[in-house]
Amino acid sequence: MKRFQDKLSQLKEAGLHRRLRTMSSASAPRVQVDGRWLVMCAANNYLGLVDDERVRAAAVDAIVRYGTGSSGSRLITGTTDLHVRLEAAIAAFKQTEAALVFNNGYMANMAALSSLVGTGDVIFSDELNHASIIDGCRQSKASVVVYRHNDMNDLRRKLEDTPASGQRLIVTDGVFSMDGDLANLPAIVDVADTYEAWVMVDDAHATGVFGQHGGGTADYYGIQAERIAIQVGTLSKAIGSEGGFIAGSRVLIDYLVNCARPFVFSTALSPPVLAAAMRAIEIIQTEGARRDHLHALTKRLRRGLLDAGFEVLPGTAPIIPIILGDPLHTLEFSRRLEENGVFATAIRPPTVPPGTSRIRFTLMATHTDDDIEHIIQACIAAGRGLGVIS
Ligand SMILES: Cc1ncc(COP(=O)(O)O)c(C=O)c1O
Repeated sequence: MKRFQDKLSQLKEAGLHRRLRTMSSASAPRVQVDGRWLVMCAANNYLGLVDDERVRAAAVDAIVRYGTGSSGSRLITGTTDLHVRLEAAIAAFKQTEAALVFNNGYMANMAALSSLVGTGDVIFSDELNHASIIDGCRQSKASVVVYRHNDMNDLRRKLEDTPASGQRLIVTDGVFSMDGDLANLPAIVDVADTYEAWVMVDDAHATGVFGQHGGGTADYYGIQAERIAIQVGTLSKAIGSEGGFIAGSRVLIDYLVNCARPFVFSTALSPPVLAAAMRAIEIIQTEGARRDHLHALTKRLRRGLLDAGFEVLPGTAPIIPIILGDPLHTLEFSRRLEENGVFATAIRPPTVPPGTSRIRFTLMATHTDDDIEHIIQACIAAGRGLGVIS
């Protein structure tokens, strides 16, 4: 055990130790943390659907009808009509021929990268891609080339310079989870055409949030779904449930059903999470006002923080990071926010590169203007106290 203790001590000294915080209420704009009610601005419940009455009711009805668990892997006894209906709904939402759900987004990325490409293939991966993409690349037998963040010249150069006997695959987050900027998808699909590469987009943070109907980055940019071979997403953020998915052609999905180990060797998602996701997708497609309100709140917070003098990363997503640099300093900032009634976690390496520790605010469509003002004032108090702003 000494080696673990030593490592934990090192992490503590560097400000990189993490601890679990316990929430005793829904992940709503106000959340009870360790007995205190705080304004929550660190959750991924972008559209506020986690505690929406209609979504809750769908989950409850599913439990009454199907019970609490699925009791088997998908290929044995775990496929219910809820799985089939949800997959059809995701395919329609993403404008693809088919879709397949996984136990979470992490597994969907692992499944895609470990089973769809292999020896002789090359994956070109943005340097700021999510850890589950990085882990999927590590798991894959394909070779991996990392290109500079959203840098199309670097991507082109690397495609040019890297011979591939097999398939090339460009993989990117749609919205980058820790920075909140969007991938330059129009340029990526053009580059991919030139080099006959497949494109894989992880729209975990864009689904429900971007696009006229909330379809994600392809919907936002007006890119035909066929130009993106593999669309990954999660049901756990704007969709307010749990699980992940891959959407694409019928043959791709059939291949995954047969060959993706995280799909084949794991128990199917449970009925309530499927029913909740299905109801949430209906709401997302019909209630554009939620998205509009979310984006208006995002602009307001971004403006308020910039006006106060904080270094805010540019972007349009409801992910608003202020860069503080040092991990201990960032932890102290987060602690002071909490003293002022705001819950926003300190994001530190290895989640972000060294020297870029940050407070990452995420908003929900159910936040109010007063919540935004409260967050700004709490930041000003913490920022002045720590000499981050004058
Ligand atoms: C970009 C991105 N991809 C994938 C995931 C994993 O999704 P899940 O939480 O459903 O495993 C996350 C976050 O958790 C993410 O931010």
